[in-house]
Amino acid sequence: MSSELIGQTAMSLTDPAEPQRFPEPPALRGHGPARIIAMCNQKGGVGKTTTTINLGAALAEYGRKVLIVDFDPQGAASAGLGVNANELDRTVYTVLMDSRASIRDVIHHTAVPDLDIVPANIDLSAAEVQLVNEVAREQALARVLRPVLDEYDAILIDSQPSLGLLTVNALTAAHGVIIPLECEYFALRGVALLVETIDKVRDRLNPRLGTDGILGTMYDSRTLHSREVLARVREAFGSNVFETVISRTVKFPDASVAAEPITTYAPSHPGAAAYRQLARELIARGDVA
Ligand SMILES: Nc1ncnc2c1ncn2[C@@H]1O[C@H](COP(=O)(O)OP(=O)(O)O)[C@@H](O)[C@H]1O
Ligand SMILES: [Mg+2]
Repeated sequence: MSSELIGQTAMSLTDPAEPQRFPEPPALRGHGPARIIAMCNQKGGVGKTTTTINLGAALAEYGRKVLIVDFDPQGAASAGLGVNANELDRTVYTVLMDSRASIRDVIHHTAVPDLDIVPANIDLSAAEVQLVNEVAREQALARVLRPVLDEYDAILIDSQPSLGLLTVNALTAAHGVIIPLECEYFALRGVALLVETIDKVRDRLNPRLGTDGILGTMYDSRTLHSREVLARVREAFGSNVFETVISRTVKFPDASVAAEPITTYAPSHPGAAAYRQLARELIARGDVA
């Protein structure tokens, strides 16, 4: 990268440690209808699950009613919120495959008030194959969510790291997509394919689908390359990149081990502040009520 670009990099950067950006969200008088947001990136380990859990918890702290849909057979969002999905007979898989089953039967409250979750476990991996033979196979998740739309302000779908049928279902159900992107070299590899998939779903299945934004994650302000990557992403995607950036900190894995969002595990940690800021950014932009 040229030194000229590096110079620009330093100036155009948002310092994640700045004082509070975006106004304190106004209280809501009622709830719903929910805006559905899918966290997508076919690369694993970029912060999809961490963003789902912590954005969900931060929105709930601001009085929004939030439903997280674990849509990854690994069940990391479920585990990260204290739900042992491996012991459950009924999960998101049940409601996807059995049209008589109600989503209400698979909603669990979490320890965070106003934050609910529909868990997933390894059963969901069979859905990818089984759905192929269904009518409207891409719309299965959208159909499942419909009965509870009016009860939540936001529904966050934690997608699996692939662009297969489950992810297409998440994109078909969604109003918007958040793309977590690790601030590492090669992070942009694959983003073109993801954007192409989003465009195809918008064209063929879900005209309302928007890209809410790219979220820089695992940012390390001490390394030049983290700053360079973020600058490259901003250069390529402009206003489609959230102002909020999530720094790299071991508090995130620590919080998942404790099966809690960082907002309750370490409420005054900058990592918690960052996800609160992301929640305020979404509310300020009108992406969530
Ligand atoms: N900002 C961060 N700083 C440090 N570790 C993080 C951060 N975000 C996520 N992690 C950790 O990185 C790993 C992968 O994150 P995860 O959210 O599970 O990614 P994905 O769902 O995209 O696979 C997890 O162990 C998680 O705790
Ligand atoms: Mg994940």
